[in-house]
Formats: sequence, structure tokens, C-alpha cells
Amino acid sequence: MRASLILSAICAAGAASPIAAVGDDTTYVVEAGPASLTPWNVWPSWSNASNVSNYSNLSNATAQVAAPKLEVIVTGGQYTMSNWSSEVHVTRLFNQSTLNATQLARVAQSVEGALDGGEYTGVVVLGAGRALEALGFYLSVVVDTPENVVVTSALEDGVATAWSAWSWFRGALVVDGGVIYSGAAYSPSAPGWGALGSVIAGAPRYWFTPAWPTLLAPWGSLRVNFTNFTDIVPAPAANATNSSSSMTVPVVFDGYYDPSIVSSLSTAIAGLVVVSSGNSTASDLTSSNIPVVFTSDDGATILPEDVPAGAIAGGNLSPLKAQLLLSIALSKDVKETSSLQQLFA
Ligand SMILES: *[C@@H]1O[C@H](CO)[C@@H](O)[C@H](O)[C@H]1NC(C)=O
Ligand SMILES: *[C@@H]1O[C@H](CO)[C@@H](O)[C@H](O)[C@H]1NC(C)=O
Ligand SMILES: *[C@@H]1O[C@H](CO)[C@@H](O)[C@H](O)[C@H]1NC(C)=O
Ligand SMILES: *[C@@H]1O[C@H](CO)[C@@H](O)[C@H](O)[C@H]1NC(C)=O
Ligand SMILES: *[C@@H]1O[C@H](CO)[C@@H](O)[C@H](O)[C@H]1NC(C)=O
Ligand SMILES: *[C@@H]1O[C@H](CO)[C@@H](O)[C@H](O)[C@H]1NC(C)=O
Ligand SMILES: *[C@@H]1O[C@H](CO)[C@@H](O)[C@H](O)[C@H]1NC(C)=O
Ligand SMILES: *[C@@H]1O[C@H](CO)[C@@H](O)[C@H](O)[C@H]1NC(C)=O
Ligand SMILES: *[C@@H]1O[C@H](CO)[C@@H](O)[C@H](O)[C@H]1NC(C)=O
Ligand SMILES: *[C@@H]1O[C@H](CO)[C@@H](O)[C@H](O)[C@H]1NC(C)=O
Ligand SMILES: *[C@@H]1O[C@H](CO)[C@@H](O)[C@H](O)[C@H]1NC(C)=O
Ligand SMILES: *[C@@H]1O[C@H](CO)[C@@H](O)[C@H](O)[C@H]1NC(C)=O
Repeated sequence: MRASLILSAICAAGAASPIAAVGDDTTYVVEAGPASLTPWNVWPSWSNASNVSNYSNLSNATAQVAAPKLEVIVTGGQYTMSNWSSEVHVTRLFNQSTLNATQLARVAQSVEGALDGGEYTGVVVLGAGRALEALGFYLSVVVDTPENVVVTSALEDGVATAWSAWSWFRGALVVDGGVIYSGAAYSPSAPGWGALGSVIAGAPRYWFTPAWPTLLAPWGSLRVNFTNFTDIVPAPAANATNSSSSMTVPVVFDGYYDPSIVSSLSTAIAGLVVVSSGNSTASDLTSSNIPVVFTSDDGATILPEDVPAGAIAGGNLSPLKAQLLLSIALSKDVKETSSLQQLFA
């Protein structure tokens, strides 16, 4: 839930631009404000997280704001060498237009690796436009950090956003078309919807004080009851013997299906995401063997009373996000309808 306070005086985020072209004298000043105003003291509840000692390293706002250092992880899209300052380090992982589960896990491991060392204050993940929603949502769920994780296909906007201390305590972000979104909510089919701010003149300008999206709140169900989701399975273990096909979670459109189709498929698939149109309580797409999540592709919220008995309501997640969340849950042996519903609620 977003803080309702809209901060009009956002303070200087310190430190000169890492983008040489912007000029050495340009700083990421958004608007001058009292020096005491930092993300650490305006975010009302960071000290209330499930485990405060996770955040103890972040209490020194002065040090954190003054010394940003970024890791850029390249997974696709357009990358041309730039005159970054020495505070921006680039790692090339792939050049893919879309990423499969193995590759997403590899990206998440690289992100965690960069942040765990304490050397970097943030990570920018460069991806092709088609990969942004998956990267943003996947990293939102599996990387639990108050630090900056920014997914973008526009590297300079991403670096500007991750450079700023005002991007902390928001979960993974997606920057697309100069607009900043929560990775948990970004949808390429609804440009501008749910925007948190935008990148203006090389710096992010936020319309809300730092806050986690509901799904990622430190006191929410995901972070409290499903802490093992952040244990990313090492990429080598996600090999063929580990049978990716048994982890398949297809997305299908609701309509008339012979109910026996789902039961005959349920040995080959691990779960099913159904894109429903309107009231689904009479859908034939149910199964007692595998979890079935109902979602909407037009932004409608699917509530438990809207789905057949035994199925899971996908809330306001898009079919792709529901597919990712269900796949992550199944990879952690979370299969019970009641547990899954708590997660999707
Ligand atoms: C701290 O978390 C509890 C729930 O665990 C919540 O009721 C309370 O409002 C939170 N406090 C702040 C300052 O956010
Ligand atoms: C909180 O995190 C710290 C550091 O990671 C760990 O040592 C401690 O056991 C955790 N406490 C709980 C209650 O999980
Ligand atoms: C805090 O920083 C130290 C040194 O950089 C690191 O060893 C430790 O793991 C960090 N603790 C947390 C909870 O991130
Ligand atoms: C953060 O807290 C959770 C819950 O106590 C714990 O499992 C996890 O290891 C902690 N992470 C770090 C980096 O300390
Ligand atoms: C915070 O960091 C600054 C700069 O590194 C340092 O001078 C200061 O002593 C630190 N304060 C605390 C309380 O650790
Ligand atoms: C990926 O390959 C395409 C085509 O060769 C190239 O235009 C693009 O710059 C490459 N992207 C990265 C991130 O290397
Ligand atoms: C990097 O900066 C130098 C000096 O400003 C300039 O000559 C060079 O063309 C720049 N290189 C790129 C790739 O922008
Ligand atoms: C993911 O894609 C890579 C490269 O295209 C491929 O080598 C790998 O087998 C794929 N993994 C899965 C689980 O599909
Ligand atoms: C965690 O799970 C328990 C048992 O299902 C439930 O009572 C509790 O409300 C859950 N906590 C959160 C924060 O959802
Ligand atoms: C494949 O995964 C299995 C189980 O996770 C592991 O025992 C095995 O060593 C892996 N094989 C390779 C070639 O990585
Ligand atoms: C959906 O259909 C069921 C059964 O026909 C009905 O009981 C329920 O009220 C309907 N829900 C909505 C939101 O229209
Ligand atoms: C992960 O956590 C969930 C919820 O606590 C639990 O049901 C599940 O068995 C755990 N998975 C693994 C592989 O430990």
C-alpha cells in the first residue's frame, strides 16, 4: 500500500551523475529540501520489517546516499558502450529477447550476488522490451532487498533511477518510456497505469514517498510465510534431469473445454493459469490434481468468489505474472490451494 503522503520537497540525492555526457557539474538534485529528509526517515515503517537486522547496514543514510555504486546486468536489448564513471560496472549475461525460467533465475542470482557483497548500492538489469514484465515481476518476488533493483530497456534512465537513494524501499522497479513502475505492477499493455514517477532530466522524480507494493510488503504474506521464495535455485540444478517439463505451467483462455482434457494433461503439467472473461464460477477448467489460477488480461481483479471451488483467484495479477508466481511457488513445493490463495490474495 502506498504512503498517502505526497512529498513535495524531495531532497538532493547527492553524488554527481555517472553519465559523463550529462556533465560533471550536474548532480541528481531533484529539489532542495531539509538535509534531514532522507528515504530512511520518511519511509514510515522500514524499521518495522520482519527482520530489522536485515536492514541494519542501511541505517547510515549519509554513507549510502553519498556513495552510490551500480552493477549493470545485460540480458538483452540495446547496449552500446558508454562513458560510465568507475562507479558503474557492467556484466553481460545474455542477449535474449525473452528469458526462460533458467535464465530468469540466473539473472536473479547475479542481482543477489551484486547486492550481497555490500559493494553495490543498486543493480540495473537491461532487458529487451518484451522481457521487462517478466524480469520486473520475477525479481520483485525472489529478490528481497530495500536497495535499488531497476529493470529497463533504456540504460541511461535505469542508471539514473538506480543511482538515486529515492528509489530505495520500493521493491524492484521497471523504467519504461521514462516512466517508473513497481515491478510487481508494471504492465506493458497499460502504459502509465500505476506509475510511481518518471525520469526527468537524468533523475527520477517520484510522486509517492518510498513504499512497498502490497505483494512485497515486509509484513505481507509473501515475505512472512514464504521466505524460501528468495532462495534462488542455482542455475546448474535447473538442468534436464530436474525436468523442466514437469514444472510447466501453461496459460489457457477460458471457454468450453471437455473437463477430461485438464485431467489428462495434469500428469504433464504442474499447474494451469486460466485467462477468464467475466464470471468464471461455472468454468470447466478445474482440477483436483493441479493448482488452477484464474486471472484476467484486461486489468480486472479476480476474487475468490469469482472462481470455481478449489481454484485460486489471481487477484490483480496479469496472466504472465500469475504464471511466474505459480511457477516459483511450485518450485518450492507450495501446492495447497489454501497456501496459494494466501499468496495470490
Ligand atoms: C508495523 O507492522 C504492524 C504489523 O506487523 C502494523 O500493524 C503496524 O502498523 C506497522 N507499523 C508501522 C509504523 O508501519
Ligand atoms: C534476522 O537476520 C539476521 C541476519 O541475517 C539473522 O542472524 C537472524 O537469525 C534473523 N532473525 C530471525 C528471527 O529470523
Ligand atoms: C552488512 O555488511 C557487512 C559488511 O559489508 C556484511 O558482511 C553483512 O553481511 C551485511 N549484513 C547484511 C544483513 O546485509
Ligand atoms: C532476512 O530475514 C529473514 C527472516 O528472518 C531471514 O530468513 C533472511 O536470512 C534474512 N536475510 C538476510 C540477508 O539477512
Ligand atoms: C556514516 O558514514 C559516514 C561516511 O562513511 C561516516 O563518516 C559516519 O561516521 C557513519 N556514521 C555512523 C553512525 O556509522
Ligand atoms: C543483441 O544483438 C543485437 C543483434 O545482433 C544487437 O543489435 C544488440 O545490440 C545486442 N544487444 C546486446 C545487449 O548486446
Ligand atoms: C567518451 O568520452 C570521451 C571524452 O569526453 C570522448 O572523446 C569519447 O568519444 C567518448 N566515448 C563514447 C563511446 O561516448
Ligand atoms: C533456456 O534457454 C536457453 C537458451 O536459449 C537454453 O539453452 C535452455 O535450455 C533453456 N532452458 C529451459 C529450461 O528451457
Ligand atoms: C501466515 O500464515 C498463517 C497460517 O496460515 C496465517 O495465519 C497468517 O495470517 C499468515 N501471515 C500473513 C502475514 O499473511
Ligand atoms: C542435474 O540436477 C540434479 C538434481 O538437482 C543434480 O543431481 C545433477 O548433478 C545435475 N546435473 C548436471 C549435469 O548439472
Ligand atoms: C457468478 O456466477 C455464479 C453462478 O452462476 C453466481 O452465483 C455469482 O453471483 C456470479 N458472480 C458475479 C460477480 O456475477
Ligand atoms: C517453502 O515454504 C513453504 C511455506 O512455509 C513450505 O510449505 C514449503 O514446503 C517450503 N519449500 C521447501 C522446498 O522447503
